[in-house]
Amino acid sequence: MSTLVSPQGASVSVPQSSVNSSAGTLAVPSQTHVDLGENTPNVYSFFERVTSTWTYVVADPASNDAVVIDPVLDYDHSSGRISTETADGVMGFILDKNLNIRRILETHAHADHLTAAQYLKQRLGQDVPVCIGSRIKQVQESFARVYDIDPALLEDTFDVYFKDDEQFKLGNLSCKVLHLPGHTPDHLGYVFGRAVFTGDSIFMPDVGSARADFPGGNVNDLYNSMQRLLSLPSDYLIFVGHDYPPEREVQDVVTVAEQRERNKHVNAGTDEATFKTFRSTRDAQLGSPKLLHPSLQVNIRAGRLPPADREGRVFFKIPVKASVAL
Ligand SMILES: [Fe+2]
Repeated sequence: MSTLVSPQGASVSVPQSSVNSSAGTLAVPSQTHVDLGENTPNVYSFFERVTSTWTYVVADPASNDAVVIDPVLDYDHSSGRISTETADGVMGFILDKNLNIRRILETHAHADHLTAAQYLKQRLGQDVPVCIGSRIKQVQESFARVYDIDPALLEDTFDVYFKDDEQFKLGNLSCKVLHLPGHTPDHLGYVFGRAVFTGDSIFMPDVGSARADFPGGNVNDLYNSMQRLLSLPSDYLIFVGHDYPPEREVQDVVTVAEQRERNKHVNAGTDEATFKTFRSTRDAQLGSPKLLHPSLQVNIRAGRLPPADREGRVFFKIPVKASVAL
């Protein structure tokens, strides 16, 4: 496993695995970051290898109050089978650590994996709010049209709709919500002290940036959101939403200073026009994410499945584009 380059504080890297315990399956985080500084929580990072997604458990060490960011539901596309091994592992960790989960935070409506937010909410057995940016309504409207969903059925799907740049408390800590549009219009980052959870607004320096061609995505907005992240203090820690390492172990975090110096798409010397040309050209060559349709049909419902038919069966819709009339 990789270790951090420069963040102060103790970091522990272990191959992610699961063990059985009295709390059930218990995932061992692949990265653990503690003592990161004043007002900064402990961070436990879980890597889901099928979709290359980082899920974070972020805990105030003084109160044990915690949040989960971007949990993942397992989905096998060929069989349509949904399972919860990954989420159960994170839940086991939460129980084992006696963490009080106060919120489940989504950075955005993901297009490459299904969120386990609703499943975790059920398992937590309390009224833990599932939170997302208020501009999710724009994403829901877009995809309600794509999948022929009555928009009224998507109202109040989430428990909390964050306004741009609002703040909330977590135990003795506070979190600032950053609106980071570009990859999607609803995209948020979450800033707890020095720890910044960016979702898909920036990736590790050797991976660069996320695509900006989904409905409501915008290359200029993405550039500006990345600049906003790069303008944070140099020692702030950027925790990314995915990692797609070219030839190294997966990594979850890097400092703002390292992003400014090394980000291959938007380093300190990259202007907006250059980024726009590169990103637009690249996006035009990319195919749709493999789990696009299942992901969006679940994620705009905050992690719920589409309604079952009269026989209790659940289906995902796939829009078809035929080049001939059949
Ligand atoms: Fe995404």
